[in-house]
Amino acid sequence: MNNHKLNRYKSHNMKQQLIHFTILAVGLWFAGLVEVVSQPVPVVQPSKIYFVSALDISQVQQGWGEPHADRSVAGNRLSIGGQMFTNGLGTHADSEFVINLGGNAESFSASVGIDDEVSKHGSVVFKLLGDADGVLWHSKELHGGDASQSVNLSLAGVKQLTLFVDSGGNHEFDHADWSDAQITMTTGKPTAGSILKEEAIVLTPKSSPKPRINSAKVFGVRPGAPFLYTIAATGDRPMAFAAEGLPKGLQLDEKTGRITGSVPEKGEHAVTLRAKNALGKAERKLKIICGAQIGLTPAMGWNSWNCFASAVTADKVKSAADAMVVSGLINHGWTYINIDDYWQVNRNAKDQTLQGPHRDATGKILSNPRFPDMKGLTDYVHGKGLKIGLYSSPGPWTCGDCVASFDYELLDAQQYATWGFDYLKYDWCSYAPEMESLRGNPSKFPAAAKSWSSSKPNELEKLQKPYRIMRAALDQQNRDILYSFCQYGMGDSWEWVAEVGGNSGRTTIDITDTWSSMAGIGFKQNGHEKFAGPGHFNDPDMLVVGKVGWGPNLHPTRLTPNEQYTHISLWCLLASPLLIGCDMTQMDEFTLGLLTNDEVLEVDQDPLGRQAARVAQNGEVEVWSKDMEDGSKAVGLFNRGYSAAPITAAWADLGLSGHQKVRDLWRQKELGRFSGSFTANVPRHGVILVRISPEK
Ligand code: GLA
Repeated sequence: MNNHKLNRYKSHNMKQQLIHFTILAVGLWFAGLVEVVSQPVPVVQPSKIYFVSALDISQVQQGWGEPHADRSVAGNRLSIGGQMFTNGLGTHADSEFVINLGGNAESFSASVGIDDEVSKHGSVVFKLLGDADGVLWHSKELHGGDASQSVNLSLAGVKQLTLFVDSGGNHEFDHADWSDAQITMTTGKPTAGSILKEEAIVLTPKSSPKPRINSAKVFGVRPGAPFLYTIAATGDRPMAFAAEGLPKGLQLDEKTGRITGSVPEKGEHAVTLRAKNALGKAERKLKIICGAQIGLTPAMGWNSWNCFASAVTADKVKSAADAMVVSGLINHGWTYINIDDYWQVNRNAKDQTLQGPHRDATGKILSNPRFPDMKGLTDYVHGKGLKIGLYSSPGPWTCGDCVASFDYELLDAQQYATWGFDYLKYDWCSYAPEMESLRGNPSKFPAAAKSWSSSKPNELEKLQKPYRIMRAALDQQNRDILYSFCQYGMGDSWEWVAEVGGNSGRTTIDITDTWSSMAGIGFKQNGHEKFAGPGHFNDPDMLVVGKVGWGPNLHPTRLTPNEQYTHISLWCLLASPLLIGCDMTQMDEFTLGLLTNDEVLEVDQDPLGRQAARVAQNGEVEVWSKDMEDGSKAVGLFNRGYSAAPITAAWADLGLSGHQKVRDLWRQKELGRFSGSFTANVPRHGVILVRISPEK
């Protein structure tokens, strides 16, 4: 029954009557006793029971698919733990449905659970939220196949009720049913409300026209490897650059601020960078460390996956590089332009632009027709003072079924270096330890061993093996290629990424642009801080601000403005690689503001390379703190709740005492001198990010 029709029959009783009337009419029609004509339904006194599914469910916000009245999210009859329901709301986590009650409701009841259409998959918690954020009720964690859980809750005095389904971060298969969901009113009717729209306020002040140097304060290079460091500086152009104390072998282009060449020997060099324009000058220290370790601060750049996914082309990559320069992002330290999956030939593509020979006669990997000139592409990107990355897998195929590196690791590493790539993301897909016995015999590869997710400690060696093989292959190249592990944290990989030689290691499954995904991943990083440091950072996946879409069609991120501030603040505190996932040719003022706040980015790029840890948690509010090189602390006051709340960062939790200066980093404003603690009012799903420094 469609929603529109149901709206005409608001009460439970009326609906029952309609069903009975229909059964009777159909029965008689079968018996040939009556001719069915369109009959007006008898009008009865409206009762005070209202079905949730009869409200305007187009207001439901959810993580996947469309909400359905009396059907599951996939359009099937509602069924939980083998029990069928004729009435209810079928949705998908994370979902939110706001219902206005005007304080006139008596109670809410429902039977909730995961729909049987996903079999044993999925896990969610159903929540009922009242006015000022209170969680009035929540279910236990329900899994696919579990029996439904009943709720019968008094709503006396509640003005607004929110039906919320929480995925806990991973929303795969979370087909969530509010079966028989109904509201009993004393007077009036419930109506669907909309989730408060937040204004997208740009907090980042405009950059000064005077010079300010923003690039990393420490930079690692291996002896003899080609060197590229662009002095990132904001301020009016023309600008003249200078560098004092550069090691032998390096030269600066005074107009562009690019330092190139190579450093022949190991050693540390204290360099002073200078930038000057008509309005003033700026200075910053840079430590160049020539040795075994690169990636001394987290990578900052862009990756094609979260916007274009399999629709990536060389032209789009070039446009991304152009946009990084034209938008001014390059002046804030953004550097890498990374091609994700689909630059290679795809083994089952119908699309001709993904077809072609996999490798040449000597075994060298070939790009697909969308990338006709890989060397030309890297030259193009380098010509802008940027760096460029690409993607492969240790198995025979990538996650997108394109040609990958198994048994060709050395040849591939050589080819990446010859082409001029600076970054490799190496994604576990299709590798299985059993394949090791097939080396040298490619025709025997299992068709598609998609993943092998065992993480038993005694198998750690097997999890690490393919990453070690590529490490050894990269080590043989006279090119610094940042090495980014992507195996979703299997085997608690944060504990061993550094030892196996990764410059970063994914700690999670893929992110998507919802609060539950972003916050679920971000706030789960606590504890990993022990393993992060210069040259090896934890990677909670790429950024989902701006226009994203994982394919040809893009949409504005579904994160609210405050959620986006939380996302960037948390990732910077976590010293995470910052890889922009949106189409950079379509960034609005708000997105640019998020990505160009130098005081916020400095938290990520701090040379100490520490990752923040949670120092306090009280229900849905959390305080995270990160030690900075200058002795200050970067502190995030996060509100994961549904309405604004005061949050206190206590000196006792931060290991501080006495008077401290507090600076709001997004607004770049001193907040004053505080002793004992600092308290701020933090919006729903929002953050206040501060830097707390001892008073001099
Ligand atoms: C995996 C990774 C993603 C992306 C895709 C490409 O899902 O986690 O980041 O690289 O593969 O197919």
